[in-house]
Amino acid sequence: MTKGIVLAGGSGTRLYPMTAVQSKQLQPVYDKPMIYYPLATLMLAGIREILVISTPHDTPNIERLLGDGTQWGITLRYAVQPEPRGIAEAFIIGAEFIGDDPVCLILGDNLFYGKLDFLRRAIATNDGATIFAYRVGDPERYGVVEFDAEGRVLSIEEKPSRPRSHYAIPGVYVFTSDVVEYARQLQPSARGELEITDLHRVYLERGRLRAEVIGRGVAWLDTGTPEALLEASLFIHAIEKRQGLKIACLEEIALYEGLITRDEFFIRVGQLPKCSYRDYCIRIADEISER
Ligand code: DAU
Repeated sequence: MTKGIVLAGGSGTRLYPMTAVQSKQLQPVYDKPMIYYPLATLMLAGIREILVISTPHDTPNIERLLGDGTQWGITLRYAVQPEPRGIAEAFIIGAEFIGDDPVCLILGDNLFYGKLDFLRRAIATNDGATIFAYRVGDPERYGVVEFDAEGRVLSIEEKPSRPRSHYAIPGVYVFTSDVVEYARQLQPSARGELEITDLHRVYLERGRLRAEVIGRGVAWLDTGTPEALLEASLFIHAIEKRQGLKIACLEEIALYEGLITRDEFFIRVGQLPKCSYRDYCIRIADEISER
């Protein structure tokens, strides 16, 4: 069974002073803390055992927010990354948790909206490393993947000043359990981090890297700057208002996925304070059983 890791540490300096006392992944994206969205993505992709990694300061707050996951029919564990020494370090910190299972890592600030078939398919078929490619207007801000005419990966570069393609690599990756060993063998980059793109290159050199294009029907949103954060909130608000449905309501997803019973759902919802989120859960319960 594929396990999940949400990496939610880092220094959050680009969002200062918002991040002076509260981490980036706890900032609101419209009506929920940011971390709800990547968690929802993993749950909708069928992942039930999840490790959340954050800083020594923020991990207790995140744990207070999310608890042990039983309210959503999943298992949540927590681990600390003492210093932001790179995304690939998540696999070293999570070594024991991963064990012999495949793992899907998602960054705590990555939001996806739309059909998640790309992720479910990757989890079902991955035999090495699977990364995704998403066309963006500003690829120099991300990991960038270049393909040949047959769709084979030619190169992977982290934030290149002159990108070789328009395809950014979103912060969700699927690996076989040997990722732990490869991560342990990595050397820190010039900026002192264990780079996720270096890990991808290890699989590329061994012919075990697959890159799947995520079509434009899926929204991959950025939350890296105050403006991007505002735009993500406005996007979520616009869709939620139009449809009358919430994005990343974890209680709804748990009931919809059959992870909790209707009774368990109502116990949980009854414990929530009176708020629009709770009103929504009550309203949606009947619709879910009709779906
Ligand atoms: O969002 C996708 C991009 O994420 C990828 O395209 C890049 O290849 C990848 O390197 C990453 O780029 P970022 O510039 O967003 O990396 P950043 O250092 O900001 O880290 C991304 C998230 O991971 C951030 O929310 C903090 C968290 N993080 C990061 C590092 C380096 C940690 O929790 N621990 C860390 O050591």
